[in-house]
Amino acid sequence: MMNIFTQHNPTKLYFGRGQISQLSTEVAHKKVLLVYGGGSIKQNGVYEDVMKELTKAEATVFELPGVEQNPRLTTVHRGVEICKSEEIDILLAVGGGSAIDCTKAIAVGAKYDGDVWDLITRKAPITSALPIGTVLTLAATGSEMNPISVISNWDTKDKLGWGSPHVFPQFSILDPTYTYSVSRKQTVYGIVDSMSHALESYFHRTRNTPMIDGFIESLLRTAIRTAPKLLEDLTSYEHRETMMYISTTAFNETLSNGTDGGDWGSHRIEHALSAVYDIPHGGGLAILFPNWLEHVLEDDPSRVKMLAMNVFGISDKGKSDIEVAKEGAKALRTFWDSLDAPNRLSDYGIDDKDIELIIDKTFIKPGVGLYKELDRESVRDILIRSM
Ligand code: NZQ
Ligand code: ZN
Repeated sequence: MMNIFTQHNPTKLYFGRGQISQLSTEVAHKKVLLVYGGGSIKQNGVYEDVMKELTKAEATVFELPGVEQNPRLTTVHRGVEICKSEEIDILLAVGGGSAIDCTKAIAVGAKYDGDVWDLITRKAPITSALPIGTVLTLAATGSEMNPISVISNWDTKDKLGWGSPHVFPQFSILDPTYTYSVSRKQTVYGIVDSMSHALESYFHRTRNTPMIDGFIESLLRTAIRTAPKLLEDLTSYEHRETMMYISTTAFNETLSNGTDGGDWGSHRIEHALSAVYDIPHGGGLAILFPNWLEHVLEDDPSRVKMLAMNVFGISDKGKSDIEVAKEGAKALRTFWDSLDAPNRLSDYGIDDKDIELIIDKTFIKPGVGLYKELDRESVRDILIRSM
C-alpha cells in the first residue's frame, strides 16, 4: 500500500511568457534583497525586467551579486549581514539553483542569532525564515518550488543539502524565454539533473504506486523526446517551456507523494564529488547515475528492468531480468552520451587519488540510499566504475 502523506506546497507559481509582470504586486513597498550570480542576468535582459518591476513596486532594493555555482557559505554570510543591518523584508533570488539555494540559507540565517552553518548542519533547529521569491533563469534543480537548499563550506570542503518548510519560496516566476540564453552545456546539465531527480524518485520500494510510477515514466519519456529537439534550437519556446515544467515537477514532491521518497544515493555521492572538486552538479550526475544503476541491478534488477521496458521501450522477450535491466542502464548512458553529457570522471581530470576522501564526504550524514543502502564498498565500486 502507499504510505500516508500530506501534500502542502505553498509556492505560488507564475508560469509562462511575460509573467514577470506579477512581480511588482508581490513586493510592493517592501525592502528587497536581490540575490544573483555571476552576471548572466545583466547580459540577457532579465535584470532590467526585474528592476523595472521593482521600481513599479516602489520597493527599496539592496543587491547581493556574485553567488557562485555551488553557492558558498561565505556568500550566505554576506547576505545575512545585509538582511540584519538593512532590515530586509523579502529576498528575491534571480537565477538558477545556486542563487535560490543561497537565498534560502540567507533567509534562515537572517532570523538566527548564531552562525547559519549551525542550521545547515542541524546543530540548531530552524524556526523561521524571511520570505523568499524567485525569478528562475535555468531549468534544473527544482529549487524554485521545493524546501531544499545545498550549500558548500569551502573551508571544510563540505557540501550539504538541508531543508525546511520555512524556505519554500512564497512565489516563483518561470518565464521560459528567460532560459533562452542558457548555454548548450548548461542546458544539458539541467536536463540530466531533472531526469536524475525523477529517476531517484522512481527507485522506491513502496507497493501499489501505479499512478506515481506511470507519471515518472511519462515525465522521463517526455524529457527524452524533448531534449534533442531543444539542443537543436535553444531558443524554442515550445521546448524550453516543456523542460522548465519538467524540472520544476521533478523535484517539488509531486513524484514522491505516497512513496518512501526514493533513493538519493547518487545525489549524495555527487555532492561529495563537487564538494571536493567543485564540478557542476548535472555533470557529476551524468557520470555517476548510470553506474549507480549498474551497481544496484546486480542485487535487484526489478525496477531497472521496469525502467528499461516502460521508458526505453526495451523488449524482455527471451531475456533474463538482469539482461533487460543492463540494457536499460546502457540506454540511459547512450541517451546522455548523445547529448554530449560527461561520462567519465576523467572528463573533469578526476582520478582515484581522492577516492577515500570522496567516500568520507558521502557519509558526512548517516544513511546513503534506500532502494539499496550503500556502504563504503558500494560507493567505492560506483566511483571506480565512473573513472
Ligand atoms: O551565475 P550566473 O552568471 O547567473 O550564471 C549561471 C551559472 O554560471 C548560468 N546561468 C543561469 N541562468 C542563465 C545562465 N546563463 C545564461 N543564461 C541564463 N538564463 O548557469 C550557471 C549555473 O547556474 P547554477 O544556478 O549554478 O545551476 P543550477 O541551477 O544547476 O544549480 C546548481 C546548484 O543547485 C544544487 C546543486 O548541488 C548546485 O549547487 N541543487 C539544488 C537542489 C535543490 N535546491 O533542490 C537540488 C539539486 O539536486 C542540486 O543539488
Ligand atoms: Zn540534483
